[in-house]
Amino acid sequence: MLKFDFTYMLEENVTGGLKEEEISAHAETVTEFLKRLDGNRPGFVNAVMTRKWVDSVNELSDFIFTFDNLFVLGIGGSALGNIALQYALRPFNWNSMTADERNGYLRIFIVDNVDPDYLAAMLDCVDPKKTLFNIISKSGTTAEPMANYLIIRGILESYGLDVKNHLIFTTDPEKGVLRRIGRAEGIRMLEIPPDVGGRFSVLTPVGLLSAKAAGLDIEELIIGAREAYEKTANAPFWENPAALIATMHYLHYKKGRTISVMMAYSNRLYYLADWYRQLWAESLGKMYDNDGNKVYVGQTPVKALGAVDQHSQVQLYNEGPDDKVITFLRTERFDREITIPRLHDNEPELAYLGGKKLSQLLNSEQVGTQLALAKHGRPSMTISFPQIDEYHIGQFFMYYELATAVAGYLFNVNPYDQPGVELGKKITYALMGREGFEEYNFTKEAVRRV
Ligand code: PA5
Repeated sequence: MLKFDFTYMLEENVTGGLKEEEISAHAETVTEFLKRLDGNRPGFVNAVMTRKWVDSVNELSDFIFTFDNLFVLGIGGSALGNIALQYALRPFNWNSMTADERNGYLRIFIVDNVDPDYLAAMLDCVDPKKTLFNIISKSGTTAEPMANYLIIRGILESYGLDVKNHLIFTTDPEKGVLRRIGRAEGIRMLEIPPDVGGRFSVLTPVGLLSAKAAGLDIEELIIGAREAYEKTANAPFWENPAALIATMHYLHYKKGRTISVMMAYSNRLYYLADWYRQLWAESLGKMYDNDGNKVYVGQTPVKALGAVDQHSQVQLYNEGPDDKVITFLRTERFDREITIPRLHDNEPELAYLGGKKLSQLLNSEQVGTQLALAKHGRPSMTISFPQIDEYHIGQFFMYYELATAVAGYLFNVNPYDQPGVELGKKITYALMGREGFEEYNFTKEAVRRV
């Protein structure tokens, strides 16, 4: 199981920490909330309690493995989980390996933007004839994946290819233009469970298809998530990682720590922090609470990479405004190990490194950063991965989805909606001339421009 260490969140170990009794004050209500949640499980929990979604992806295996490349087009919750999975669980040089080195699994390209330079460069890497394109959009309306879909379809048609042999749509089971087109044209489709919102959907076909195509063990992802859920539903408050993460972050927020930094001491884990940024920001950043009061709440999530950001951000975290709570991600086992050669024995600045492992240096830096922060009175917690594999990554996703649900309860906001994001989508439609959205064109004539 993942290991959670809250030592430096507590006042007895760090001056800016929390008193045990102020945390415990929420134990009863949070535990009751989790019991209610267990009685009426949210969609993202139900999604890992069934084989349905894994099976739906497995059923496409024969089709998927006829291709060399998988190109995923989605945005936000329809992309960030895929990216996090691929970085965490595939070698960094995966796409430059030969098919044999990849054991026949596919190269994976995930394009989550409409930057023409980026899309064009990614497309340059693949032969459309050997590429499967997975268009992911829960709503089937978002401008970015829809524009990218049209571009891809145009390319496939220009090659004279039968589009239905190169496309998979991942979308709502009933609604939306992708479902309509897919039905009319016999395009293969995967369902996103209707009660699972974008940023909670990584362990549904949204994230599972690209994981499967890259040869990841999607069953283990689900097993890890399920075990994290069981632990959260049944564990007492002080042994409950999701409850503790949410409660402590909520309390720090109340004390003015309005920024939550997730700092990964592993390049592979870094993109989990990107996924977390969306989950925490979009779920908890709300103008109104559940009673309709204007509250303007939400903790700003920030991602950082150790040791790199020790030489940039960490000065600010130590001595700047005391408005941050830090979460470190680290691994106890790297897949590859490099020993630093013993050279320059007469040079003390180099000699002490000789014979040490790079992993030891990186993990010592993590401890060093945490202790320096503690010296400055700055709170932090640590999540240790016994190893970076499907099982533990699945746990991570589930713990944070649950922590987000608990934090939503503590902040008294709805963690599952995103009215701010939706308004931006409508304004884009208006600016791009989509019929029916004229009222959202709020463009003002420029009065001051230099
Ligand atoms: O979490 C969310 O709901 C959003 O970030 C969506 O995932 C994002 O806006 C993309 O939406 P869709 O999948 O409907 O295209």
